[in-house]
Amino acid sequence: MRKIVIDTDPGIDDAIAILLALSAREELELLALTTVSGNADIDKVTKNACKVLELAEREDIPVYKGCHKPLMRERIEGDDFHGDDGLGNVHLADPVKKEEEESAVDFLIQKAHEEKGKLTLVPIGPLTNIAQAIRRDPEFVECIEEVVIMGGAENGGNMSPHAEFNFWSDPEAAKLVFQAGFKKVTMIGLDATGWVFLSPTLRELLYLINTPVSRFMHDITRVYADDHWKIEKKLGCELCDVLTTAYLLDPSVVETVDAFVDVETSGLCDGASVVYRTLYYPDKTQNCTVAVKADTKKFYEIFFGYLFPDYKDIALNMM
Ligand code: BDR
Ligand code: CA
Repeated sequence: MRKIVIDTDPGIDDAIAILLALSAREELELLALTTVSGNADIDKVTKNACKVLELAEREDIPVYKGCHKPLMRERIEGDDFHGDDGLGNVHLADPVKKEEEESAVDFLIQKAHEEKGKLTLVPIGPLTNIAQAIRRDPEFVECIEEVVIMGGAENGGNMSPHAEFNFWSDPEAAKLVFQAGFKKVTMIGLDATGWVFLSPTLRELLYLINTPVSRFMHDITRVYADDHWKIEKKLGCELCDVLTTAYLLDPSVVETVDAFVDVETSGLCDGASVVYRTLYYPDKTQNCTVAVKADTKKFYEIFFGYLFPDYKDIALNMM
């Protein structure tokens, strides 16, 4: 059983990533959610984290509120891609569940020490909380087993031609995480997440499965799909963060390369991840394993297999 903390800014795909993790009760022990401002401000994303746990009837899992702004910059407003509420404009009622008193950074440091080498961090938002923990505690890095990041890209971006949202939101934090010397860092960036698109057919299947969780996923992805249409003329929507959970359940869902990764923190390419494959740049010391492709079929096998097992075969036949 792998012990994980998901550091998150829910966020449509964040919410789905969390629900997938919760469905894998025998493989993943979700110790907590720590929140970070990103897709929406810190109060909204923290409430959203509580709402998702309530939906899954997992109020026992604690939520810790994290940083409200990037490490060295002001937060850039602009929440619209995930709706005004950060969850696709479904405007669920305020949750009864509240976050803990302790801050996310304090919790991360304390938990890392408690678990000593047996804790996997899964940051699927800007890397501010993780960077603050690194800064505050010199022993934090060595206490972590693996960091599985959704962010960055070897090629391309979604906030500029070269920068992906999570790194672009807090480039200094992302840079620090890659420089910190973690035992194992896995970067699941846009090169891989581009392979896990929720098609209109699979989205409709979520509606027809008709459980509170499947209907929620259907509802929150409406705005996301509309934006993909508006901007890219694509039908459906990308499930970026969900691929990190799928990777935890079956690492072979992605194809990886060894690399040295650094992050640009100024200029035209601000927030861009620079991926030196060590195969081509042997002088560079590896600090990361980078996912460069995902197996779409395997992803949906994992997704439906854990969340809606009765519909796995139907889903796979629709692909
Ligand atoms: C990332 O940005 C956010 O909008 C998503 O939740 C995901 O973490 C994709 O670039
Ligand atoms: Ca996210």
